[in-house]
Amino acid sequence: MELRIGRVLTLFVSLALFFVASGCEKVDRTLQPEVKSVENIDLLPAKEAVPNKDGIKIGFSMDTLEEERWLRDRDLFKTAVENLGAEVEILAANGDDALQVLQAETLISQGVDLLVVVPHNAEAAATIVKKAHLAGIKVLSYDRLIKNADIDLYVSFDNERVGELQAESITKLVPKGKYVYIGGADTDNNAHLFKKGVFNVLQPFIDNGDITVVYDQWTKNWLPSNAYANMQEALKANGGKIDAVIAANDATAGMAIQVLMEAGIAGDVPVAGQDAELAAAQRIVEGTQTMTVYKPIPTLAEEAARLAVAMARGEYIDTERKVNNGKVEVSSVLLSPIAVNKENIDETVIADGFHLEEDVYAGNKR
Ligand code: BGC
Repeated sequence: MELRIGRVLTLFVSLALFFVASGCEKVDRTLQPEVKSVENIDLLPAKEAVPNKDGIKIGFSMDTLEEERWLRDRDLFKTAVENLGAEVEILAANGDDALQVLQAETLISQGVDLLVVVPHNAEAAATIVKKAHLAGIKVLSYDRLIKNADIDLYVSFDNERVGELQAESITKLVPKGKYVYIGGADTDNNAHLFKKGVFNVLQPFIDNGDITVVYDQWTKNWLPSNAYANMQEALKANGGKIDAVIAANDATAGMAIQVLMEAGIAGDVPVAGQDAELAAAQRIVEGTQTMTVYKPIPTLAEEAARLAVAMARGEYIDTERKVNNGKVEVSSVLLSPIAVNKENIDETVIADGFHLEEDVYAGNKR
C-alpha cells in the first residue's frame, strides 16, 4: 500500500474544502482534525470489545446479506469496530436501491458519526452521500465504489487485478478456443473492473485469433438464477461446444458449473470464479472449478473499520492512491487479491483459516 501523510498544502486545501462542504454543522468534529496515514493508525490488538468511551457510532449500510462473503464482512466489520472501542449499527437492503437510501437515512437520523456503504447501485447511492454530507457525516465506500459522488474514502481490493488473475489462470490452460464470460451486475462498479481485468489479458489472444469470446453477458443483480439462464443460453448458442468459462464470482461460477454438469461436461471445461466461497473451494478440490480469487475479507473489514473509526474521531485520512469515481479523485486503499487453485489452496485459504481443511475436503480424499 502506498500511503503517506498528506503534505501541509494538500491538508490545508483539503481542510478548507471540507469546512466549506460541511458548513457550520457538527463543527466540533472537524475543528482540529488530525492527519494520519494508514500506517499510523494501529488496530487495537484486543479481541474483546473495549468500552465505547467516546461514544463513536458507525452506520454500516449493506446491499445484501444473501451471499456467504457479505455475512463474513458484516460479522468481521462489527467485531473490528467494537475492538476499536466504537459501536456499529448495520442495515442490509437486499438489493433494493430505494430501501438502501431509506436505511441510510435512518442511520443518519440516528446520529451516526460516519457512514460506511456497500452500494447496491453505484450511481443511485450518490444520493446517500449527499444526504450524509448535508448532516455533516463522512462516507466510506466499502468494497464497491459509489460513482459520481463526493465520497471521503474508498476501501476495497484491486478489482481489475481480480479479473486479470482469472484470465491469466484460464489462458494458461486454454490458450486457444471459445470463451464464455458470465459478468456480474452492471449496476456494480466492481463488475466493470472485473471485466476490464479479464479483457486486459484476453485481448491479445482475441486479436491474434486464438480466443473467441462467444458469449459475454452481465448477470442482473448478481443473481445465481440469472447466471444459470445465461450459461444455458451460452451453451445452446454454441451447440454445447465451449472451451472455457470465466464467471465474475463463485455464485455465478457455481451456476455455470451446474449447467455444465447437466450437459455432462463439468470438469472438462475450465471455470474461473471469485470470492473463495466454501462451495467453490470444494468444487476446486473435486475438480469442477479451476480457480477462484481469494480476497482476504478480514483484512478488508479491519482496514475499513480502523479508518472509519479514525475518521469518525475527526482524523483526516489521506492516501497516495486515488480512484476517479466520475466526480472526484477518491482517496483509496486497494488490497491485493490472490489466485487460488488446487495446488495452492492449502497454503492460502486454509492456512489463513478462511476455511477449515475438513470443510474444504469434505467428501474428497486428498
Ligand atoms: C464483490 C464480490 C461479490 C459480488 C456479488 C462484488 O462487488 O466484490 O466479492 O461476489 O459483488 O455480491
